[in-house]
Amino acid sequence: MSVNNAMTADFLRSAYGGESMAHMRYLIWGDVADKENMPNIGRLFRAIAYAEYAHADNHFRELKDKEGDFTVTAGAVFGASKTENNLQGAIDGELHEIEQMYPVYLETARFQEEKGAEKAFHYALEAEKIHAKLFKDAQDMAKQGKDMELGTVYVCPVCGHTVVGEAPEKCPVCGAKKEMYKDFPA
Ligand SMILES: [Fe+2]
Ligand SMILES: [Fe+2]
Repeated sequence: MSVNNAMTADFLRSAYGGESMAHMRYLIWGDVADKENMPNIGRLFRAIAYAEYAHADNHFRELKDKEGDFTVTAGAVFGASKTENNLQGAIDGELHEIEQMYPVYLETARFQEEKGAEKAFHYALEAEKIHAKLFKDAQDMAKQGKDMELGTVYVCPVCGHTVVGEAPEKCPVCGAKKEMYKDFPA
């Protein structure tokens, strides 16, 4: 499948940039959480960083026949202070994706009948909803100076679906099998 419309291609490149930066930012913030003696929040950041990698991977692959060098503009949250504040940055970034970015990208892909891009944007949108919630749970504890309680985190490598405790038999978003989930154990 190839991307035929310039606007969908632009959105895929921007989403790739945004997810790439989120991936790196969460790895950095995970290290900060570890140093603040919040290893579960650190692990949550690393698990979700992997989900953002899956999204970047999907967007990148959709653009496989669009070779060359492009300037990519994407929103990037900055700040590397204490974990409580970093989590606010994470929540803000996820909410931007949930409320504005992905709904608009998804509608555009649908309008332009770009099936592959539509799937990639849909996968990301569904995962980010879960991420926002998990980051809020983490922030509630971090604000009290405590680590969160967190079972094993499972991430679907196909769509980034993220779940705590046990992986489902089948990914509810993309249908991948339980065995495919990547685990981030305590
Ligand atoms: Fe996310
Ligand atoms: Fe999935």
